[in-house]
Amino acid sequence: MLIREAAPKDIPAILTIYNRAVRETTAAWTTREETLDDRLTWFEHCKNEGLPVLVASTQSGDVLGFASFGPFRPREGYRFTAEHTVYVDPLAQRQGVAFALLSQLVEIAAAKDLHLLVGVIDGDNAASIALHEKLGFEVTGRLPQAGTKFGRWLDLVLMTRVLNAGMAAPDK
Ligand SMILES: CC(C)(COP(=O)(O)OP(=O)(O)OC[C@H]1O[C@@H](n2cnc3c(N)ncnc32)[C@H](O)[C@@H]1OP(=O)(O)O)[C@@H](O)C(=O)NCCC(=O)NCCS
Repeated sequence: MLIREAAPKDIPAILTIYNRAVRETTAAWTTREETLDDRLTWFEHCKNEGLPVLVASTQSGDVLGFASFGPFRPREGYRFTAEHTVYVDPLAQRQGVAFALLSQLVEIAAAKDLHLLVGVIDGDNAASIALHEKLGFEVTGRLPQAGTKFGRWLDLVLMTRVLNAGMAAPDK
């Protein structure tokens, strides 16, 4: 398995992985599948903003999963905090793909002098919660019944990891 920056040719596979999760899981609280144009626009935006989009791929280039991060909230006071996301093809799950992707994403975030990474997770998503615990994230917030999908209320769990722990807060 290789972890590398995504290229435009990877976007159809990213789209397929994401849309399957939309259809079958509560990882994304929407039933709206994206179009190729949506994902290409997102990818362009990430590139323009200097935000990482990583893919895990086989030696022959098949995409197994992807991960990225972006701003947590828009106001400038949140500029040292990022929210990340990770999706793995069901056929490639339980093989360390998400762990490898997020490990590298954490390194990139730390190198960019970010101070907090936030995972925003469905409270029933035991796989994602265990994954984040393994990566040193802690559950630091829970919003009961914050969303809905598939005919039930969903709790939102926030999992955070401080990066660059000794980092002083900026003057402004
Ligand atoms: C959550 C998800 C990203 C995990 O990806 P993965 O590549 O299968 O995870 P890994 O193989 O790297 O697992 C790393 C650790 O996560 C935990 N984990 C992963 N899948 C798990 C599962 N189904 N049940 C329990 N723990 C699980 C384990 O601690 C695992 O370590 P271990 O294998 O040593 O026990 C994947 O299930 C997925 O894409 N789900 C749909 C989308 C989603 O939920 N994304 C997260 C949104 S916040």
